[in-house]
Amino acid sequence: MPWETVNGTMILKALNPHQQEEALQLAAGILKKGKIVAFPTETVYGLGADALNPEAVSQIYDIKMRPADNPLIVHVTGLDQLAELVLEIPSEASILAGYFWPGPLTIVLPKKELVPDITTAGLSSVAVRVPSHPLALKLIGAAGLPVAAPSANLSGRPSPTTAEHVLEDLAGRIEAVLDGGPSSVGVESTVISLVSKLPALLRPGGVTLEMLENVLGKKILDLTNSGKEIRGIPPAPGMKYRHYAPKAPLYLVEGDEAFQRQQLVSLSEGLIMQGRKVGMLVCEESKELFSAQVVKVMGSRREPQVAAERLFSALREMDKLEVDAIVAEGFDEKGMGRAVINRLRKAAVQVIKQEP
Ligand code: TXA
Ligand code: MG
Repeated sequence: MPWETVNGTMILKALNPHQQEEALQLAAGILKKGKIVAFPTETVYGLGADALNPEAVSQIYDIKMRPADNPLIVHVTGLDQLAELVLEIPSEASILAGYFWPGPLTIVLPKKELVPDITTAGLSSVAVRVPSHPLALKLIGAAGLPVAAPSANLSGRPSPTTAEHVLEDLAGRIEAVLDGGPSSVGVESTVISLVSKLPALLRPGGVTLEMLENVLGKKILDLTNSGKEIRGIPPAPGMKYRHYAPKAPLYLVEGDEAFQRQQLVSLSEGLIMQGRKVGMLVCEESKELFSAQVVKVMGSRREPQVAAERLFSALREMDKLEVDAIVAEGFDEKGMGRAVINRLRKAAVQVIKQEP
């Protein structure tokens, strides 16, 4: 079957069972020959390569223009494959895997020598997860390899939640994208490190901190808020980079509801008066307040998982609508709100925060 291409990148549509088998075989073949293919996961689309092949992995860094010191997540189908990559599987890892795999949780453990340095950016640990998206699982299974995959965007851009987003950034730079429709979670996996005595949260994501603490029955060290202010060596190398950035500057307002409303209105009106095209990224509850040219609703304040699902595509839509500035409303830092506010902070050029 001839596949549609964009700038030479094949779109392997795997949405109906009829096309799926052939699409999967082609995608798995690309991985097996040491090349790169983008594929859907439940969180965001990934840019996959054979995790044990240093030449294959090095292409990921080139294609994404990713800094060489930012390690990759290795995707596997289950605990058997995990055991091949790490020195040991501590009981906390088995417990977490039992509850949350397949799913949006990445576990960092000391690596075996087999895992190339380039995959872990020289770290002695490796980040591993079992995605729950059926196509991701089938692809890893068909390739018979652990698959290194960062989000399939150009470094610094919002993560892709559809095959179209992948093509926006990477058409012509990769052989193919496996198209499985939109990702359901919308933000990346939660990253937890089990390398030292205390479990540590390195990135909030699809599994909430509260869920993790519940299952482990203990407190988890939250290292995610060091954010931009971090000096020296961050616990997760990815923490120190500006991320998820739309083209227009994004201003984030954080505080109680009254503060947010007042700041959002004055910021947006001020920008409009300066003749700027303003995009508002706000909750359902406050959408009526604005006269801005573009208003994107992230969902109700009480449903941060909806905001997570919509966030990255909303940022990309702002780019397409060529706004000059984006003003975004904050979310409470709990449950999935933690992942949403984390991504917004990293996308922001400035955070307007209420004084305590
Ligand atoms: O949901 C996801 O995790 C997606 C999909 C494709 O699975 N992948 C993803 O990968 O978000 P990426 O490369 O965009 O983010 C990987 C994060 C970075 O913050 C990186 O610094 C951290 O994981 N990381 C990877 N290996 C690590 C390690 N050995 N120690 C600490 N942090 C690590
Ligand atoms: Mg990423």
